[in-house]
Amino acid sequence: MSDSSVLKKQNSLLKIWPTTHATAGATATPSGPSHLEDDRLEPSSIPAQIEFRSVTKTYGQATAVNDLSLSVRRGEFLTILGPSGSGKTTALMLLAGFVAPTKGDILIAGKSVAAVPAYRRDQGIVFQSYALFPHLTVRRNLEFPLEMRGIGAAERAKRVDSILERVHLREFDSRMPSQLSGGQQQRVALARALIADPPILLLDEPLGALDRNLREQMQGEIKSLHREFGKTTICVTHDQEEALTLSDRIVVMRAGKIEQTDTPETLYDRPMTRFVANFLGEANILEDLGFEVESDAAQPSGTVGMIRPERVCIAATGEPKRADADRRQFAIGTVDDMIYAGPLRKYNVRVGDSLLVVRQHVASGQQIFRLGDEVKLDWLRSDVRFVAT
Ligand SMILES: Nc1ncnc2c1ncn2[C@@H]1O[C@H](COP(=O)(O)OP(=O)(O)OP(=O)(O)O)[C@@H](O)[C@H]1O
Ligand SMILES: [Mg+2]
Repeated sequence: MSDSSVLKKQNSLLKIWPTTHATAGATATPSGPSHLEDDRLEPSSIPAQIEFRSVTKTYGQATAVNDLSLSVRRGEFLTILGPSGSGKTTALMLLAGFVAPTKGDILIAGKSVAAVPAYRRDQGIVFQSYALFPHLTVRRNLEFPLEMRGIGAAERAKRVDSILERVHLREFDSRMPSQLSGGQQQRVALARALIADPPILLLDEPLGALDRNLREQMQGEIKSLHREFGKTTICVTHDQEEALTLSDRIVVMRAGKIEQTDTPETLYDRPMTRFVANFLGEANILEDLGFEVESDAAQPSGTVGMIRPERVCIAATGEPKRADADRRQFAIGTVDDMIYAGPLRKYNVRVGDSLLVVRQHVASGQQIFRLGDEVKLDWLRSDVRFVAT
């Protein structure tokens, strides 16, 4: 991207800050781990703050977003997860107003925003590329959106000081963005999205450019900012761990469509499709491995049996039978590979022509198996999940 197009993009981004002060987010009171408006209510009984109604976006022959319907509750942290090209950024850009739907409508607080330009949508946005003004200091970057809203110098200084304090960058206020580390720039970008107090925060791969440690640290920061400010947040990522850690709910997208929307735990433990099972963690598909699936429940047609690697137990062949052996499926195999990964040990076990993945938490006194060892595998039949193919 050329310098002038970067600036143009940044200018249009900065216009998204409102000209009137929005206080919706500031008055929310934290309660427990999440900011959902009322955790005791059934999700369906809480009015949606953001609603996609059968939204489609096509570019020529290509469909980027295909008949997307989704409701997001006030204060919810929703993550859109999916492989590259699945339509995540397009969905966010449609909501931000940078892209217009080909079909369908988007509602915010019950009203269509079809005719509302991006700069009036009252949303804070953070992009993967930080999008800070390279020629302005940290303080000026943060002041800019407030200046555009006609806020006076004294109030601006107060707000900038307060948000800088919050993101631990008080002493960096006179630095240029190029004099900051990636994580520090990211914190300035988050501060800038929050400073005008918009009720909605949109994050597109906000931590994509950071290394693993910094990423984890910033995930904690985003989580605590969400607890504190209670903004309705939509975060786009292709990092499954990030999605599981941060979200109240996760939307898994595939080729422009929603594959499944659920809480992180339900999505991981009860994936509905093979795609979701494979995208979010590792999955042993029993049919692919040549197993006849044993389960307490009847197998619906069009599904395959799946067992997560951490649900499979590994033991020496001579181990005595377990007390609950009648509730388990067994297999004998040979250790083909062992990977030690700190708290976990991952075994690939050859059973017939197939490899079954076993993940074991490292514990003291545990038997460690070596390549070529014969082992006994078993899992509870009730831990087998059926996923659509
Ligand atoms: N302006 C455009 N013109 C033509 N096609 C586009 C345009 N923007 C996006 N697309 C196409 O739409 C599809 C979805 O793109 P999008 O950027 O939403 O994907 P994504 O899920 O954000 O991917 P990534 O993880 O790589 O960022 C892709 O196939 C992309 O090539
Ligand atoms: Mg994208």
